[in-house]
Amino acid sequence: MTGTRTPARKRRTALLAASTLVAGVLGAGGLMQGTAAAAPACTVDYTVVNDWGSGFTASVTVTNNATSTLSNWRVEWDYAGNQKAGQAWNATVSQDGAHVTASAPSWNSTLSAGGSANFGFNGVYSGSNPKPTTFKLNGTTCNVDVQDPDIPDEPDDPTDPPPRGDRVDNPYAGAKVYVNPDWSAQAARSGGRAISNQPTAVWLDRISAIESGSAGENTMGLRDHLDEALEQDADVIQIVTYNLPGRDCAALASQGELGPNEIDRYKREFIDPIAEIVGDPKYAGLRIVNIVEIDSLPNLVTNVGSRATATPQCDEMLANGNYVKGVGYNLATLGQYDNVYNYIDIGHHGWLGWDDNFGASADMLYKAATSEGATVDDVAGFAANVANYGALKEPHFTINDTVNGTSVRQSKWVDWNRYVDEQSYAQAFRQEAVRAGFRSDVGVIIDTSRNGWGGPNRPTAPAAKTNVDSFVENSRIDRRIHTGNWCNQAGAGLGERPKAAPASGIDAYAWIKPPGESDGASEDIPNDEGKRADQMCDPDYGGNARNNNNKSGALPGAPVSGHWFQAQFEELLRNAYPPIN
Ligand code: GLC
Repeated sequence: MTGTRTPARKRRTALLAASTLVAGVLGAGGLMQGTAAAAPACTVDYTVVNDWGSGFTASVTVTNNATSTLSNWRVEWDYAGNQKAGQAWNATVSQDGAHVTASAPSWNSTLSAGGSANFGFNGVYSGSNPKPTTFKLNGTTCNVDVQDPDIPDEPDDPTDPPPRGDRVDNPYAGAKVYVNPDWSAQAARSGGRAISNQPTAVWLDRISAIESGSAGENTMGLRDHLDEALEQDADVIQIVTYNLPGRDCAALASQGELGPNEIDRYKREFIDPIAEIVGDPKYAGLRIVNIVEIDSLPNLVTNVGSRATATPQCDEMLANGNYVKGVGYNLATLGQYDNVYNYIDIGHHGWLGWDDNFGASADMLYKAATSEGATVDDVAGFAANVANYGALKEPHFTINDTVNGTSVRQSKWVDWNRYVDEQSYAQAFRQEAVRAGFRSDVGVIIDTSRNGWGGPNRPTAPAAKTNVDSFVENSRIDRRIHTGNWCNQAGAGLGERPKAAPASGIDAYAWIKPPGESDGASEDIPNDEGKRADQMCDPDYGGNARNNNNKSGALPGAPVSGHWFQAQFEELLRNAYPPIN
């Protein structure tokens, strides 16, 4: 931490008292004009269809009112009497004391947005048989009105968790986002003038970046950026903190400067100096979005232990605890300032969208967010698809589609994943994170810098439902060879332009990875950043366990990660979707 200085949370109390009053008055006015409709996140209808004095038959219908699909649905309630649920149909019903859990049957385990499931059971009781009053669907209380976490300014919603200092729910709402002049100039002189005024994130990818910019075209230090953000009259600046000990444990392309055990250097030489700058009162009016340590925590779930995808480096980072400690320290130290909004990386659907990885990752994030002094109040939300290529929305099919009775989940492309695109994944992960213990007002940022998938190869309609593989192959807009491919993907285009609050649970579409910066070198290139050539960046490589031994799909001739890659930038412009006009 930054020693003797008073944290902003305290410093700003005086200022706050006055402005809260004003907000309160405005809020009431807003309410009179009508707030956005409140609706329950889920509905449970519990009906006793037969009761013979000592036993009964109940029928339960559960409806998912959220806008995303729920996997492995689970309904819970408590009995007030001595009821005991017994034989059940269309769900597995178990009871522990008064607490009943009804879990989805394997053949009907998902609840699509707006979808319902019905199940029933027989029970016994003595005395009375009162209906349970409170039901939960996967941890969320049903039948009570909740308001959309992304509709700003719903000041009096009783279901809102207490505010986090003077933070707003969604820092992007109504905000002007900072344009990085380094990237902007590079994009403009590289043929991308049309998009060079878009906001992109500032990457702090090594200690020296704090003073003099990250790899590649970037020359400005953190203070330069913050000063420039004030000049631009921006409300939000996006930074990425990316320098953990033993960074990038499952790949070589972005290995970093700190060895696996250098957690103290991470704290003292990286996070503390950043906090020192960020905490300067002159920046107190800027919302600083901090995107925390890409890929790190998911690697501790998916690339360790007995998994075929395990690496000794990820095993080491799990064992020494330095990713968890580093992330916890980052969240706690930067989170002491009320104008900092921390977002933890959640990989992407083609990584964590499988059941083995999904809940375990949410739990791992929770562990980090409650270590080294951090609490869930230090977490504004999560960042999905950072520097990846997963389609935002697959327009021509959903996870619920079937072909001749076979689910698309069984296609080679989807391969039993629960999601086909980033938005449905992000919304579901948000709910899972709340289940794991995060605040109910967390939001997700989706990186849409390079997931546009336009150009001549973009399917314009769903394919014929001949068989499940040909349907998915010819319908999907994500044209990668495999969803595990991540390096400089051929055929990719710029995605949705940055936008605030585009969908329920989503704080923003944002350009976190600066388009044009390489993901990794195709072959070894000497550098002083610790970066190496990962075979996934070599177009001739035949793949590994993490992409199910498929070709890498990478563009040839790529420079070291973070450095300008002109050929890729030109392709991103050509294949932009929405197209650039
Ligand atoms: C990669 C690089 C990093 C760079 C970032 C953004 O992760 O390793 O140096 O800042 O991409 O391009």
